[in-house]
Amino acid sequence: MGESRLRENCGREGLLYSILSFLCPIAHIIDIMKLTSAHQISGRLQLPGDKSISHRAALIAALASSRTEITNFSTARDCASTVACLRELGISIEQTNDKLIFAGDEKLVTPQRPLDCGNSGSTLRILTGVLAGQDLTAELTGDESLSSRPMRRIIEPLELMGAKIESTGGHAPLKVHGSAKLSPISYKLPVASAQVKSAILFAGLNTTGRTTVIETSPSRDHTERLFNGFGVPVKTDDALAVIIDGPARLSGGAITIPGDVSSAAYFVAAAMLLPGSDLTIERVGLNPTRAKFLEVLTSWGAEISVTDVQSERNEPFGTIKVSGGVNHKAGESERTLSGAMIPALIDELPLLAVVGSQIEGGIRIRDAAELRHKESDRLATTAKNLRVMGVEVEEFEDGIFVSGPRRLQAALIDSHSDHRIAMAFSVAALLANGETQIAGSECVAISFPEFYALLDSLAVR
Ligand code: S3P
Repeated sequence: MGESRLRENCGREGLLYSILSFLCPIAHIIDIMKLTSAHQISGRLQLPGDKSISHRAALIAALASSRTEITNFSTARDCASTVACLRELGISIEQTNDKLIFAGDEKLVTPQRPLDCGNSGSTLRILTGVLAGQDLTAELTGDESLSSRPMRRIIEPLELMGAKIESTGGHAPLKVHGSAKLSPISYKLPVASAQVKSAILFAGLNTTGRTTVIETSPSRDHTERLFNGFGVPVKTDDALAVIIDGPARLSGGAITIPGDVSSAAYFVAAAMLLPGSDLTIERVGLNPTRAKFLEVLTSWGAEISVTDVQSERNEPFGTIKVSGGVNHKAGESERTLSGAMIPALIDELPLLAVVGSQIEGGIRIRDAAELRHKESDRLATTAKNLRVMGVEVEEFEDGIFVSGPRRLQAALIDSHSDHRIAMAFSVAALLANGETQIAGSECVAISFPEFYALLDSLAVR
């Protein structure tokens, strides 16, 4: 990576940084990334392991009857939170250069202090499901953003199964009083949420009988695939029911986590939008409940090919190749993202809104009120930041309309400490005229600490 170019494009000097640092009481938490436009995104790379799969692999390894070796574990700060919580719960985890090794056949113990889930909704919600089925009491805490996110969605089903969970008005901190003898339930999810589904499935391991989770729209299915891959059958049917029979014990084994497809999305989108780009990402996850954005971008004119598809413990992965083009348009129906496709696009919607500003006729996102309950209110933060870059946006309770195509204006972007907002608008910055500044850019480490270094090495300026 050209160091001077990195300093020039990603520097922290300047009047604006000084002013914001002065205004912010804890100055060092404000990190401003300066980004200029790029001609192309070109190169070949592999990515750190998928965040969602890594959380689940670590939880499965902690409960498994034998040793587990996880290769290419996510480097995300969120996944480090899961590992730290498991260590507090008495699980021995050895870290080598490229592996996490879990001894296996261990028992979770009452932690000495509250379990700090940081910014990670997956850690807090899925781990609560794990703890609901253990004979122990534990407190789970999170940062300010996580403490404002809704938790009744897990409290209700887990209490129906027999756990007792104290909360502060339905928010973290949560105090979980678990029981190794939970009752199975049949539960219809009020919102499409893989975290809630997973919490119930992990709790279902410690019941006697059949637990059924009924989804309204299919959400990511990593828990189902990995349970099946580690010795516990999970069935699904056409009526969107996910079924597990307890009691059941997961077995250990080896897994190499596919690259994170949600991290790949930022580079794929940038490559699509910059003519002449030529990008190849190898060994990246292709689970259909996660890779839907590839279909959407293709329907908006992207040239994307997927090859060399293989599978690891039921998780498909392969090579994505993107060529940059100029023909970005689609019919009205392709430009509306709504209904059952929303859960499969949930983490990519801010990025798709940015791409939408380059599509003839613009794009519309509906049925996505869940975005208001993410690390930030992503409908509001996406709309606000697109507007400061000169895009007309209409905001609804459950979505946004983004007009397009628009030449983006360089601007000061407020990430609201939300990693997906910081990265989506870093892609926007590559298209803008002049220097865009991303305030709070350090939050990208929540899911993708290598983001800016990789972006700098792929961007042709
Ligand atoms: C996740 C599920 C989604 C997603 C989050 C990760 C998971 O959240 O937004 O980034 O790993 O299960 P919800 O379950 O709240 O939709």
